[in-house]
Parts: sequence; C-alpha cells; structure tokens
Amino acid sequence: MRAAVYAFADETDRAEALAAELGIANAEIALHRFPDGESLIRVTTPAAPVAVLYRSLHNPNAKLVELLLTASALRDSGARKVILVAPYLAYMRQDIAFHPGEAVSQRVIGDLIASAFDACVTVDPHLHRIHSLSEVMPGVIAVSLNAAPVLSAALDSTANPLIVGPDEESLQWVRSIAEPMGLDYIVGRKQRTGDRDISIHFDAIAQAQGRSVVLVDDVISSGTTLVVAARQLLAAGATRIEAMATHCLANAQDLEGVRASGIEKIRSTDSVACSTAEISLARLLAEGIKTQGLLE
Ligand code: R5P
Repeated sequence: MRAAVYAFADETDRAEALAAELGIANAEIALHRFPDGESLIRVTTPAAPVAVLYRSLHNPNAKLVELLLTASALRDSGARKVILVAPYLAYMRQDIAFHPGEAVSQRVIGDLIASAFDACVTVDPHLHRIHSLSEVMPGVIAVSLNAAPVLSAALDSTANPLIVGPDEESLQWVRSIAEPMGLDYIVGRKQRTGDRDISIHFDAIAQAQGRSVVLVDDVISSGTTLVVAARQLLAAGATRIEAMATHCLANAQDLEGVRASGIEKIRSTDSVACSTAEISLARLLAEGIKTQGLLE
C-alpha cells in the first residue's frame, strides 16, 4: 500500500469517496477527547508511505491541535510524506491586521500547517489580498482548487437564470460559472460593518426584473449576505432565487433565516457537512492531487 487516505469518524464518508476516486485505501484515525478537553490521537495500523489526511477545518480550534498530533502520529507510524486535504481551510479571512494589535490569523495558521505537512490541498480559500496559497504556507506544496466547475455542473440553466454575486470578490466564481453557459451576470458592492451588519448595492439590479436568479458566493457564514441580497433582488422583481456556495458554515437557525428571506434552494459542496451539502468535491480533490503528483 503506497498511499492511503486517513480521516476521523465524522468525515469517513467523504474520505472514502476521495479514496475511491484516487484508487487507494482509506483508514480511520481514532480520536478520544478527554473530559478536560485534550485529545488523544491513534493511528490504528502501520501508515502508508504517503498518508493523505482528510480534515475539513470548520469549527477549527480543537481540530488544529489534532492536526498536529495526527501528522506526528502518521510519521511515527511510517509515513514519509503527509498531505493535508482540507476542503475548507479556516482562518484565511483575517489576512491583514484590520485594527492595530490584531493577529494576522492567516499567516499564523498557514505557518502552523506548513510546519506539520508536506503538502496542503484546499478549495476556494479566502485569498482575496494575496495571489497564491504558497505565500501562506512557505516551503510546502500548497494547492488551491477552484470549485466553480463543480458548481457550474450542478446548475440547471434551463430557466436562463441571472447569476448574481453579492460583492466584487465573488466576481471570479460568478464569471466562471456564467460566461461558459452564456448566462447574464451582475455583482454588487458590499460593505460590512459587523458580523451580521452589511449593506449591498447592485448598480444593475434592474436586470433581475422577471428573472430567475442564482446567487453565487464562496462562503455562507451567518447567511446575512444572502439575506440582504435576496431582499433586494425580490424587491427588484426577481421571480425565484436559489443560492450556491462553495462552503456552507451556517448553522440550522441561520439557514432557516436564509430560506425565510425567500431563497427557495440553497446548495453547497460537501466541504462541510451541512444540510446544503449536495455537491461532491471528491473528483475535484482527486484530480488536484493527481495533477500535482502528490502520491508519488
Ligand atoms: C466575504 O467576503 C465572503 O465572500 C462571504 O460573502 C461572506 O463570508 C459571507 O458571510 P455571511 O454569510 O456571514 O454574510
């Protein structure tokens, strides 16, 4: 066994799907959380020479410590190369100190991952002020995959929907989904003044009149962005709205709020185990791993 995918029990299904796409075995990492909050990690069989650890990093704090422990345990168990596949990569949004004294979380967490892994593969990390994931993870092979093709493949274009991005940063996904299908698109300008306090201005909102709309974003976090956008689109005459995102981090209550705003359908990739996670990333991740020759 030259390579295998490893995962914790809560992500076995997605790790299995990835292993199947790669044509390699998969195995579970045993995890025990002690009453005091510490974690015990155990690799239960000798590790493959190339160990692919599947761990998506939503709710990241405990998982980050467990990542370090697992990488170490895999090496102690025989792995010579340890690759992190983190479909959702946490702490990428705080890429500068927005206020004096703030930690630049992206740099700190990037360095931490680089210290433990030989390579890191992720999907649509929030890299809006830097050009590549390699800048965040010095010295490792850092692979950032784009989910636009899988979102696009899941889109039903029969109603000729207007594709809408809530902010300038979403333009990259909106354009790569809309242009190949010949669909119209618009993006807004968003201003955020708090976690749940945002405003959006769409210059071209008149285009929503009488149209079916698909809102596209990289992340649904509190869902506020979608709610604010949906209200304006409906007021402008949109006939139906659905939303698609690479990552859905929202809890059930926030998703309820998104649905209550008039968004009839919300779909995301399975980067995070959310009720909206209908779109598998397994093939995209496997292709990224193979293209980079990471299993060699
Ligand atoms: C922001 O730049 C991102 O692209 C998303 O629009 C944002 O993270 C969504 O957050 P929320 O759901 O809390 O509005």
